[in-house]
Amino acid sequence: MASLSSALCYLYFLLIFFPIVGRCSRRKFETYHTINIRTLLPRNVCSSSEASRSLSPASIKVVHRHGPCSPLHLKQNPNHEQILDKDRSRVNAIHSRTATIPAHTGDSLGTGNYIVTIGFGSPKREQSVIFDTGSDLTWIQCEPCLSCYQQHEPIFDPSQSSTYANISCSSSYCSELDISGCTSSTCVYGVQYGDGSSTLGILSEDALTLTSSNVLPNFRFGCGKRNNGLFGEAAGLLGLGRKKVSVVSQAFQKFGSIFAYCLPSTSSSTGYLTFGGSSTSSNVKFTPMLTNPSMPTFYYLDLVAIHVGGRRLSISPTVFSKVGTIMDSGTVITRLPPVAYSSLRSAFRRLMSCYRSAQALSILDTCYDLTGYSKVRIPKVALQFGGGIATNLDTSGILYLANASQACLAFAGNSDAGDSGIIGNMQQKKFHVVYDVANKAIGFGPNGC
Ligand SMILES: *[C@@H]1O[C@H](CO)[C@@H](O)[C@H](O)[C@H]1NC(C)=O
Ligand SMILES: *[C@@H]1O[C@H](CO)[C@@H](O)[C@H](O)[C@H]1NC(C)=O
Repeated sequence: MASLSSALCYLYFLLIFFPIVGRCSRRKFETYHTINIRTLLPRNVCSSSEASRSLSPASIKVVHRHGPCSPLHLKQNPNHEQILDKDRSRVNAIHSRTATIPAHTGDSLGTGNYIVTIGFGSPKREQSVIFDTGSDLTWIQCEPCLSCYQQHEPIFDPSQSSTYANISCSSSYCSELDISGCTSSTCVYGVQYGDGSSTLGILSEDALTLTSSNVLPNFRFGCGKRNNGLFGEAAGLLGLGRKKVSVVSQAFQKFGSIFAYCLPSTSSSTGYLTFGGSSTSSNVKFTPMLTNPSMPTFYYLDLVAIHVGGRRLSISPTVFSKVGTIMDSGTVITRLPPVAYSSLRSAFRRLMSCYRSAQALSILDTCYDLTGYSKVRIPKVALQFGGGIATNLDTSGILYLANASQACLAFAGNSDAGDSGIIGNMQQKKFHVVYDVANKAIGFGPNGC
């Protein structure tokens, strides 16, 4: 049954599709990935990737929050609708901040999806935190808690650390915060996230251990006394944004302002986050890192075109340049300006037309039922960035698989043509993504993890 339908599907392509798109017979190899969809589904056990690049002095393991590699063993993982609905609230928060009417500062995003485990204090206490390029301040829950949600590891207790200190209100570090206050001359911080989560506490400094041989002394972070929200048992958040308070700025002296990561293709494999290292690795291609002065936290880049099945979609580059494109580790699904998304969707649907379509999944409106196929052919998708670089997405960044009967194109359109584009973490999967802040460049290398 399955092989018959695959054969019919193949014939369909030879007969219908080739005359339209392909002039030369090589086209079919350039057009599709042939994959076993099981490779896109997570397994029950974690297979740790040893691929962590040795380029850099400090490499930390990155895992998906949900799934067998996560140190947080949640009693119940959210379902796909919940994950995608949360993604929508994060994107709404980004768009409300990037709107021309300035939203109030300090209002941050929803929470991201990848976890790293790092050490706070002396002796160090391991804490698993969400890593997020879309926010700046790092924070963890701290004892004594006024209100803490449940977390996996014991809550950090500053009184047990010999290197801990409060930061005073008169410090310039205090005035650099988006939201700050003062209690008995100690600096108080607050962050409100777009999904309603929040943290409030004392601005502190202590040793931050990234890897056993890489310690940042006097690292500034929030000691959260009143924390509410869906952080899913993570101890807090590691802020990799561009402002002064972020770990990237604080690590500058030790590592230079360069970091890189690889997000694993499924939640049953691992990736890495590294600080420092050289950006001149051979197969990494760079595009300019852009800045939006009204959105200083975010890393922007210049998306200029999209290729589907080896062909460039006819979308005017101004569709992208008018609104800008943010690189965000915490958004799941890439958002495109409406015109660009509908062009991508129709090209993708055309090349997938031999598969049965399936019901939409939350924000994903182009889904297929792939049950019964051992191999499927999915169109290649590449994003082209300024500087003439094209990045061929991994298959795990093209389809979002709820399961074999619901496999969806992992992109969505913005509802407003004035909203910025966002490159989400699905589309970053498996790339060695380099942020060379000093040279203002973002790089993509294939097969990072
Ligand atoms: C930090 O400030 C809090 C609140 O003012 C206070 O309770 C605590 O003792 C201070 N800790 C240190 C180490 O100074
Ligand atoms: C596939 O996933 C969708 C969305 O999570 C769900 O509604 C559906 O029941 C699942 N189907 C199977 C066969 O598991």
